[in-house]
Amino acid sequence: MRRNRSQVWLRDLVAENRLAVEDLIWPVFVIAGDDERQPVLSMPGVERVSVDQLATDVAIAAELGILAVTLFPYTESNIKTPDAREAYNPDNLVCQAVRAVKEAHPGVGVICDVALDPYNSDGHDGLVRDGRILNDETIEVLCRQALVQAAAGCDVIAPSDMMDGRVGAIRDALDTEGYQDVSIMSYAAKYASAFYGPFRDAVGSGGVLKGDKKTYQMDPANSDEALREVGLDIEEGADMVMVKPGLLYLDVLRRVKETFDLPTFAYNVSGEYAMLKAAAANDWLDYDRVMIEALTAFKRAGANGILTYAAVEAARLLKGE
Ligand code: PBG
Repeated sequence: MRRNRSQVWLRDLVAENRLAVEDLIWPVFVIAGDDERQPVLSMPGVERVSVDQLATDVAIAAELGILAVTLFPYTESNIKTPDAREAYNPDNLVCQAVRAVKEAHPGVGVICDVALDPYNSDGHDGLVRDGRILNDETIEVLCRQALVQAAAGCDVIAPSDMMDGRVGAIRDALDTEGYQDVSIMSYAAKYASAFYGPFRDAVGSGGVLKGDKKTYQMDPANSDEALREVGLDIEEGADMVMVKPGLLYLDVLRRVKETFDLPTFAYNVSGEYAMLKAAAANDWLDYDRVMIEALTAFKRAGANGILTYAAVEAARLLKGE
């Protein structure tokens, strides 16, 4: 076995998987205001940036060959309401950000999350009544949210809310309003994970979240159920699916990839990013090496692409910068 490992060129020649810049999707946090850059404390190296700054960040990513970004809004508590109406304000922060990115970099793919958590005063992805998350009422709002994002120029709608039937409803709404070309990347197998903690800080939903998301996000104990979730979303019209979180769920990713034949993405979530950063800050791990190893593991497990906060860092390393 060691003959094939004996030299660098030979190892590269026999490599079964290769991480490429084109595999990376960069999640970006957007904040209101002008000329703002705020570090996210639980995610070293990640900042929330105002819309005017966004073009600069996206330019850096595009220059490195990153094909797409996904945009998340930081929302102050004064715009969060029980009906999450800001979600479908055509001039909300995400819509402003989409327009800014598309204007400056029309060739960069823009992906938007569809879920109510940034806008809901209960911090949930759906509407809440008497402590219960409402399914069908939520879907109506999600459709309106998807439509304002599509109108702003978003290329890919990414429902991350885990309501039942939302992919089909959003597909219908998009088609009816003339957005046949807007794709859907479904967060199909999304688990109720504690690894989203730093993200909730980043978007300002952590402090307001009442309870947990276990009545709609999946139980980390399950993977047969993930196949059902993915199958349903495909039937409903998803163009691409996602497994989330990533690193702890590579077995799920592999099963999805082996069962279905459409592009499958993994979300290397905030807590996974924070773990490596924290260990590196203590000099316990070599950040660059563990980060590339982790991203390569996604490829080996079958990912067609990876949403990762390390996208720009990884792209620089891959390009030898
Ligand atoms: C919102 C959403 C979450 C993430 C992406 N979209 C958080 C959640 O469901 O609570 C998590 C991303 C991350 O942790 O990096 N629905």
